[in-house]
Amino acid sequence: MKTVRIKLIAVSLGMFLIYSFSSMSQAQTAGVWNIPAKFKTTKNPVAVSKESVADGKDLYGKHCKSCHGAKGLGDGAKAATLDVSCSDFSTKKFQALTDGEIFFQISEGKGKMPAFKKNVPEDNGRWAIVNYLRTLAVK
Ligand code: HEC
Repeated sequence: MKTVRIKLIAVSLGMFLIYSFSSMSQAQTAGVWNIPAKFKTTKNPVAVSKESVADGKDLYGKHCKSCHGAKGLGDGAKAATLDVSCSDFSTKKFQALTDGEIFFQISEGKGKMPAFKKNVPEDNGRWAIVNYLRTLAVK
């Protein structure tokens, strides 16, 4: 009787561990982002203009190009050292994200992608980068 109970406890503990590890790794699965719903409709306060795109391009060169590559294809020098894809900003799939969703991704980061909310300001920073990323779409 005692051994049955111990076995039962061991099995349920094992299942609990497997469950928690699989949900943990799911939260970190490359390419899958948990973006809070409100960002879908968050408006970009910075108008698309020559100036904001140029500001975004500058910042991109400083903070993003090393991984994401000159044209955002995910082929920067550092990309080869990572075990996950840096995505591809030229694709329809990426460009279908809203400005707010991309802003969230840049601000918070995930896994190997750093968060930029501390190092890059909002308006003439992360939102301007969003405007620049739109110019990388393949038409
Ligand atoms: C150290 C390398 C590195 C740097 C630097 C970096 N990123 Fe990333 N980025 C990644 C990786 C890796 C991913 C994919 C993360 C994942 O899915 O787990 C990613 C994902 C993204 C995504 C989501 C793409 C998608 O398809 O949903 C955006 C947007 C992004 N990065 C923008 C930027 C911007 C803008 C900068 C600069 C301010 C930047 N990243 C700097 C590595 C980097």
